Amino acid sequence: MRITLLGGTGNIGEGLALRWAPKHDVVIGSRNAEKAEEAAISCEARLSKEGITCVLNGGENAQAIKHSDVVVIALQYQFAIPTAVAIKDQLQGNVIVVSPVVPMTKDGFLRYVPADKYGSAAIEIQAILSNNDVVSAFHTTPAARLIDLKDTLDLDVLVCGSEKPKQTVMELIKDIDGLTPFDAGPLEASYMVESITPLLINVSARNRMKNSSIRIIGQSIE
Ligand SMILES: NC(=O)c1ccc[n+]([C@@H]2O[C@H](COP(=O)([O-])OP(=O)(O)OC[C@H]3O[C@@H](n4cnc5c(N)ncnc54)[C@H](OP(=O)(O)O)[C@@H]3O)[C@@H](O)[C@H]2O)c1
Repeated sequence: MRITLLGGTGNIGEGLALRWAPKHDVVIGSRNAEKAEEAAISCEARLSKEGITCVLNGGENAQAIKHSDVVVIALQYQFAIPTAVAIKDQLQGNVIVVSPVVPMTKDGFLRYVPADKYGSAAIEIQAILSNNDVVSAFHTTPAARLIDLKDTLDLDVLVCGSEKPKQTVMELIKDIDGLTPFDAGPLEASYMVESITPLLINVSARNRMKNSSIRIIGQSIE
């Protein structure tokens, strides 16, 4: 699949680029085409050091989304919303949009602050990109763990969205060794998942930890 990471020069974008590039056609997006191309070359070099040969591409955000199957909005909330507005008209209707976006603010501790009108970043992005399916995922996946290619991941990823696009994104998550996707419901359930991120960061800060994440513990029903 062709996957574009808007803001792919940043933390979660770089992590996903590195982990998906061996199996997919990854395009790094940026406000600056040159910066995107440099990030793509840097990812190739990082992977090459691990004995993995693959080609990544880079381009300005609006160019980078062309011909994509999946677009990940790897941007802080305050930039994700205007960027979604900016790309709306260029985005083909069959493109699945993935939101790892968490609206947070620090006021003594981190608080989850989605826009009242929408209740979650994913629903707000879906309202803007009304011709596309938005799926929310990766909110509890620490970028630093994705970026460290020597890290053997063992993380669960909660995924919200409509059935068909959600299944596609869950398959993409399975393509990253050590990530297990869990269906967390429709996109309307995203507020619950997004709100776990500030909780994890607050727990980390108070308990001398970093890169906290989640595992789902349960017993299978046959
Ligand atoms: N970091 C994590 O561990 C993590 C984990 C789970 C979810 N998330 C979520 O993923 C999203 C991205 O987080 P991140 O830590 O990866 O972000 P980040 O590294 O701080 O930023 C990502 C990119 O945003 C772009 N950017 C910066 N200022 C901008 C502006 N004014 N307008 C448009 N783009 C701008 C930059 O790309 P260019 O300069 O190249 O345009 C930057 O590389 C957030 O919503 C976060 O809540 C993060």
